[in-house]
Amino acid sequence: MTYGHVDQETGEYVIERPDTPTPWINYLGEGVYGGIVSNTGGGYSFYKDPKNQRVTRYRYNAVPDDQPGRYVYLQDRESGEYWSPTWQPVKTDLDDYECRHGPGYTTIESKYDGIAAEMTYFVPLGEDCELWVLDIENEGRETRTLGAFSYVEFSFPDALGDQTNLDWTGQIMRSRVDETEGVIEMYSSAQELSYTHATSAEVVGFDTQRREFVGQYGSLEEPAVLEAGAARNSQATHDNVIGSFEHDLELEPGESERIVFMTAPERNDDLIAKYDDPSVVDEAFEALQAEWEDYLSTLQVQTPDEQMNTMVNVWNPVQCRSTLYWSRTASRYQAGLGRGMGTRDSSQDTLSIVHAVPDQVRETLEMLWKLQFPDGHAWHQVYPLSGEGDAGLATEDPSKPQWFSDDHLFLVLGTVQYLKETGDYDFLEADIPFEDGSTGSVREHIERAIEFTDEHRGTHGLPRMGYADWNDSLNPDDGSGEAASVMVAMMYCRVLDEVAGLYEFLGEDDRAAELRAKREAEIERIDEHAWDGDWYTRAYDDEGRVIGSASEDYQQISLNTQTWAALGGVDDDRAREAMENAHDRLNTEYGFALLDPPWEGEGKIDRIGGTTTYPPGAKENGGIFCHAHTWSVVAAGLLGDGERAYQYYRQLLPLAHDDVADLRRVEPYVYCQNVLGPAHEEFGVAKNSWLTGTASWAYVGATQYLLGVRPTFDGLLVDPTIPAEWDGFEMEREFRGATYEIAVENPDGVESGVASVEVDGEVIEGNVVPAFEDGETHEVRVVMG
Ligand code: GLC
Repeated sequence: MTYGHVDQETGEYVIERPDTPTPWINYLGEGVYGGIVSNTGGGYSFYKDPKNQRVTRYRYNAVPDDQPGRYVYLQDRESGEYWSPTWQPVKTDLDDYECRHGPGYTTIESKYDGIAAEMTYFVPLGEDCELWVLDIENEGRETRTLGAFSYVEFSFPDALGDQTNLDWTGQIMRSRVDETEGVIEMYSSAQELSYTHATSAEVVGFDTQRREFVGQYGSLEEPAVLEAGAARNSQATHDNVIGSFEHDLELEPGESERIVFMTAPERNDDLIAKYDDPSVVDEAFEALQAEWEDYLSTLQVQTPDEQMNTMVNVWNPVQCRSTLYWSRTASRYQAGLGRGMGTRDSSQDTLSIVHAVPDQVRETLEMLWKLQFPDGHAWHQVYPLSGEGDAGLATEDPSKPQWFSDDHLFLVLGTVQYLKETGDYDFLEADIPFEDGSTGSVREHIERAIEFTDEHRGTHGLPRMGYADWNDSLNPDDGSGEAASVMVAMMYCRVLDEVAGLYEFLGEDDRAAELRAKREAEIERIDEHAWDGDWYTRAYDDEGRVIGSASEDYQQISLNTQTWAALGGVDDDRAREAMENAHDRLNTEYGFALLDPPWEGEGKIDRIGGTTTYPPGAKENGGIFCHAHTWSVVAAGLLGDGERAYQYYRQLLPLAHDDVADLRRVEPYVYCQNVLGPAHEEFGVAKNSWLTGTASWAYVGATQYLLGVRPTFDGLLVDPTIPAEWDGFEMEREFRGATYEIAVENPDGVESGVASVEVDGEVIEGNVVPAFEDGETHEVRVVMG
């Protein structure tokens, strides 16, 4: 069954019933103050950092799921009956329910017993607060007397301490109540900020002590205050601090009222006063929508596939923005307690969004380059609040190398993409510190990255594995210096091609030629040592034994080296053969399994590491790892196979699985990290939605390799690889300050190849449209053939 649909007018995803198979969430805020909100009001907030400045609580792994949240209880004063207009936490069978997730906001509308309530959650642009706007209307024929009680549960700012050291946090968190102004604060001497919950309506009661509001053995479903029908005016002098206001509402038939609740990281009386005015709230909401529209308008498409259009025009870029802001830190699956931002993760996150927010991408790249050591490798993760880095996962096993073989290479790929998109070549000369405080230009950083891979080599002279490459759990390197990654060798080929291309563009042919020679040598090594006969091997262990070969029982074939053979431009014929065999061995209706066969034995295989700790078909042990799948779209695009590129794109497309929502469970409007693979008992169940590198590469795959419009140093390349039955498509795209209205026609029904390109009515040579950089709109007509 389906749980919702896309509103084609607004792009919103409309959820039609509250009991979705998992909570279907959305993100609020633009990277400073914000958090997640589910289709039933569940979720939590944080300020700049989900670990160190958590504002409200969320109980992971809890039963019932998805609590607490940003709640309001409504109560009929006469009958005493109460309900939650967002369904949770009371879970009354509402007469009507609809949740609309849109970019940066969520609206939940419901009706119960003649009362219509609409709750809109959003973070006003550039302001450190969230608003919950409750519009309530009496649709009945009698005057109604209602009570409204808000509920927010504060966290101690150090979210880990909030879980682990209740001896301390349970003594120091206290409340302060200003009834006249309608402000509750949670404060302690150990924190600089006092967290705030405020209301626009007249206060008739309040609570700040959870034990009093809920009752010691009570629940959010049946809290003591609602059972009694009156707030207790509790003051929190320790323990769990909440913010709850009680309000009276008297509504004539047809009458409506608005209450604006605010939660914020600190008390700001100007902001509180500002949003007491309902029309100011509407203006703030419209401004937010306009800002998102601006962001989305930087690239819009019209293809024959409506679901693809919705994903490319709305939800995929919305998801890309959240991943750029929060990397892999805070979602329903990542509790925001440990991981900072990943160097490889965030570098890849920049790829999809650089046309829309180039300045932010530059800042991200600068932050990440500071994590590079003078020898060229980089810290694996960074904590944005402090700017400090560490080796992330590798620290769990100090006996293994404390570096990854791919972080610095993804950083180069992100940087080159930034240069191609923006033409900001001055960035190459910007001075950025290395990890040890010495400085060097971005160009120097890039060179050191190349040098690191060049100088760290294992078996057959292929790049050494380090703790892991892209696959975090492939850990064959115990330090003998033999373990090697074929995937990194292929990535290195791409990096060398990109950087050589950059130098050629800049007229630095000597260095370009040196890099091209390195690349040829790398390709030779791959050809000689990593071709298994029908596909490429994956890696070599610390004794030089192969991983990912037909000669083995486990993991005979791996996806990543088949796709990256094309991405690295290693050898087109072999890449084609490798992709064909990967298709036969690994492809399923929900995408490519990462490897086959998975490890099914007891215990793990020590020479492989973490991959073999997963059940067969889960995650890196033969699951459908969506991020890795997206490279199949890029590979098919590069190899000119339009049918396959589109088939692979559709296999992952969230909206294309709307009709099997009970199987998939996760949101049908955003990508997830993995789907249980064919070897798993629950094949098809999708997991870990929202914060995943899948988002960025799915977008890059769709727009740059399927639709084939991608920036180059010289201009905008138009090189579509589409299904033969498409008669064309349109794309409007910003590029270096100008707008390109591109219309692609496919009169002969081909899958790839461009016969002619006209720009503003003039035929041009080749298929790279010039970078006009003139703020004007240019019409580009492309005929395939
Ligand atoms: C997770 C990590 C990412 C890694 C991938 C595969 O998504 O965030 O860095 O590449 O797993 O192991």
